[in-house]
Amino acid sequence: MKKALIGLGALALMTATPAFAVDPFFPTFGNPGIDVLHYHIELDADPVSGNVSGKTFLTVKAEERLSKFSLDLHALQVSKVRINGHTASFARVGDKIEITPRPPIRKGAPFLVRVDYAGVPDPLPDPTAPGADLFLGWFKYQNATYVVSEPVGASSFFPANDEPDDRATFTFGITVPTGYRALANGTPLGSFSLGAKTRFNWAMLQPMTTWLATVHVNRFNVNTSSAADGTPVRVYYPDGLPASHVAGYALAAEVLGWMEGLVGNYPYASYGSAIVQDSPRLYYALETQAMSTFPQRANPPREGLVAHEMAHQWFGNSVSIAKWEDLWFAEGTATYFEILWDHRDDPAAFQQAMQENYDFVVQEQLGPAVVEAPEEMFTDRTYLRGAAALYALELTVGTPKFFEILRTLARERRGRSITSETFIRTAERVSGDGSVRPLLMAWLYDQAVPALPGAAAGVARKAQVARPGVTRPRHVVD
Ligand code: TRP
Ligand code: ZN
Repeated sequence: MKKALIGLGALALMTATPAFAVDPFFPTFGNPGIDVLHYHIELDADPVSGNVSGKTFLTVKAEERLSKFSLDLHALQVSKVRINGHTASFARVGDKIEITPRPPIRKGAPFLVRVDYAGVPDPLPDPTAPGADLFLGWFKYQNATYVVSEPVGASSFFPANDEPDDRATFTFGITVPTGYRALANGTPLGSFSLGAKTRFNWAMLQPMTTWLATVHVNRFNVNTSSAADGTPVRVYYPDGLPASHVAGYALAAEVLGWMEGLVGNYPYASYGSAIVQDSPRLYYALETQAMSTFPQRANPPREGLVAHEMAHQWFGNSVSIAKWEDLWFAEGTATYFEILWDHRDDPAAFQQAMQENYDFVVQEQLGPAVVEAPEEMFTDRTYLRGAAALYALELTVGTPKFFEILRTLARERRGRSITSETFIRTAERVSGDGSVRPLLMAWLYDQAVPALPGAAAGVARKAQVARPGVTRPRHVVD
């Protein structure tokens, strides 16, 4: 769903936030001619053999007259493509399905594409870590599967218009051998037995970017609790996960309520955490929408990590980024709340932690926060300088205004994307402070680290952990 037109001023908002059809960081992914409104993904997944067979139904709007369009799909075999129920001719060209609708689809027309496919999903090389042996998408491990796609792994399990600014709603019907449980984004719509197999239905009815789509298959146990507002919070964990770990993830219920108090209602109908025992390959957590994915570790999860992925549900997921260069908005905000959660009852300790973060940004000369290349996406530039930029904004406009800015963004941009420019404009408007634009421009775009408004100098050190196989230091969130 690109350019969701809501209410008056839609034209102005459209001009202000053009849809970036194909992200410049990953120009081989996505397709400028189409706007996917909904994906219905039906998969029959065998976690033992790794085989998957599926059909995905895409409700699409033609953004221009289409005599041809393409979808991203990696490795899997396509047996048939249908448009509005009629067989359509297609060709596989690299990781694309090139589809030729006859007659061509007229501009603005909605149409239904069905793709039937099968095979063993093959994760894609991670273009944010060139040369490293790292992959994205659908993974099999032991007798289980999971998906972490950020930024371009979605096409490992469904035909996608895989660009960050084409958001869509999703429904899933995942059929697995009886005894296994299938998870996906959003809210469980129940399961039913098909004898030797069981089908699990899930719905994500708020718009979601393709890179946040996930499916998990395992023999999961479930721990259910609820946040103060009644939102169900579930932890899905494999046998043998210590109770202290389950309790650590279940803390999400408390974090959810705390976030609501600061930035407004949780954007989804429920929250889940899926725990994956694929160590060391899965070395980070991912904020997969309303169903965060966590690697099992020796110790229970850090509270800050649970808070980080929860904060993403508002910032990065509900309000997403139109372009990958603006990833600081997601990661800086999640890092800000990660630090705030740890020091929520002690303002002096929070200030001290933010000062230490700033000192580290200065020491390492990290910047700017807006990045120019995929290799820079998961570095301290987005996480730490991003968080420092937000703290500088807070010091400038004051804490109440700062949270009003975040609440305003969460409300006005719910289910839509933003750019850095949208952020700056919103901060300017809500604060009414003319110094906010130059401040944020410097923090987001200048190499030099700006002075922290009104803060004393200090010294700090923070350990840097390298991402496996990557020479450039990668930010590690846990
Ligand atoms: N976006 C994830 C988070 O911050 C983490 C993540 C995804 C990541 N890909 C990464 C971290 C690569 C380091 C390297 O929650
Ligand atoms: Zn993050």
